[in-house]
Amino acid sequence: MSQHILSTSTFSSSLYALILAAGKGTRMHSSRPKVLQTLLGEPMLRHVHQALQPLFGERVFAVIGHGSSEVEKEFKADSLKFIFQKERLGTGHAVSISLPTLLQSGASELMVINGDTPLISTDSVERFMAHCDTEKSDLAFISLTLKDPGSFGRVLRKKDGQVQAIIEAKDYNAALHGTEPREINAGIYYLKLDKLSPLLQSINNENKSGEYYLTDLVALAVSAGLKVTAFDDGDNPELLGINSPLELANSEELLRERLVLKLLTAGVIIHAPQTVRVSPSATPEPGAEIFGPCEIMGRSLLKRGCKVGPYCYIKDSEVGADSEVREFSHLEQAVVGQSCTVGPYARLRPGAELEEGSHVGNFVELKKTRLGKGAKANHLSYLGDSEIGAGSNIGAGTITCNYDGKNKFKTIIGENAFIGSNTALVAPINVGDNALVAAGSTLTEDVPPGQLAVARQRQVNKNRKR
Ligand code: UD1
Ligand code: CA
Repeated sequence: MSQHILSTSTFSSSLYALILAAGKGTRMHSSRPKVLQTLLGEPMLRHVHQALQPLFGERVFAVIGHGSSEVEKEFKADSLKFIFQKERLGTGHAVSISLPTLLQSGASELMVINGDTPLISTDSVERFMAHCDTEKSDLAFISLTLKDPGSFGRVLRKKDGQVQAIIEAKDYNAALHGTEPREINAGIYYLKLDKLSPLLQSINNENKSGEYYLTDLVALAVSAGLKVTAFDDGDNPELLGINSPLELANSEELLRERLVLKLLTAGVIIHAPQTVRVSPSATPEPGAEIFGPCEIMGRSLLKRGCKVGPYCYIKDSEVGADSEVREFSHLEQAVVGQSCTVGPYARLRPGAELEEGSHVGNFVELKKTRLGKGAKANHLSYLGDSEIGAGSNIGAGTITCNYDGKNKFKTIIGENAFIGSNTALVAPINVGDNALVAAGSTLTEDVPPGQLAVARQRQVNKNRKR
């Protein structure tokens, strides 16, 4: 963990963060709000929020508008607070309508961050804050110097090098503004609210887009004699905004590489690392071994010494120490204990729980099912809403019939039971410890401990007619 030295010393409790996230993202050509587009399974907005949280804690707001109910739903469990921008009239308008809520909460200084810069790191924000502090700025923003300034806002400086204005790409006029600079605005700003609030009201929409540009604040502040500074962050690729599917793919790849490199450096063994996708919320421990291609998503935990084979998809699941998840397995909200074997081609659905040394083999599906210590279900089975005791063996083709079309029922199997191949267990049903069920049975009644149950027609052999 990096040390966030400013978080206690310089940051005052009246410094708030505001993420601009109300836009539609027209250039993404998608009905989903842009800030819900994902990188490694997490929406852009969550990446930005998580970079800010170590510094701002609960003092982070997001302006939302387009698809706001979808955004609120996705962030139900996060500590992010929302401000609603009914009409999206531009970035200046987004900040302006947020002011009453921010001031009421006790904000006197504000960091504004475009919601479409998901690669931003806590360290980058912190370096910017150090700049604002040493320069004693009233208004500051991060600038980058790029080979191609693309569609970013251009930073205009006076002859003495002082910042003069930000001119949006569309509105740039070489005859008026001079040779086009390569220094651009990254969309991350610091505002002293007592000085800047009055000027926010003076922004107009007389430009090519007909929008209220937040960037116009720069020229207004300079004219008002305020201290305006830019923090030149070189060509820091973390700060590039995402407007199109191509930019999203490039940023996602950058993030993927960064995370995989971090894991390799920490001691996770990764084969074909260029084909491995790991969520920033996942924790593969040093000594875990991963074979690409595969995806380790959500809050997954891979413990030391476990092995994940190629073509696996693991989401919000735990894989215990020395366990092996073999190729083509699919795990979601599952817990695999220590020294287990899963797959190839296994499917562990939410609530699957494998205790130490248990085995789940090919084409076996588990849902809300606990497999006791050393129990085995090695071939072609569906086990749902069940408890299977330690040491039991579930034969090939066993099905728990857990659903009658309306309700779900439980199957409980004791310890060291043996369920013969192709058995249907019609739930609710109990099979006792040490019971034996003959292959091909359809069980509708409980089997007491230690008994043999045969629930199928007796075989008849007759002379064959020719
Ligand atoms: C903006 C900057 C540009 C900068 C670039 C950096 C302005 C006018 N321009 O341009 O100088 O180089 O970011 O990436 O600010 N949004 C709202 N409400 C609105 C409009 C936008 O919340 O009414 C949000 C969007 O969801 C987005 C962010 O503000 O997350 C930036 O808006 P966007 O339209 O992407 O601005 P750019 O054209 O990229
Ligand atoms: Ca943008």
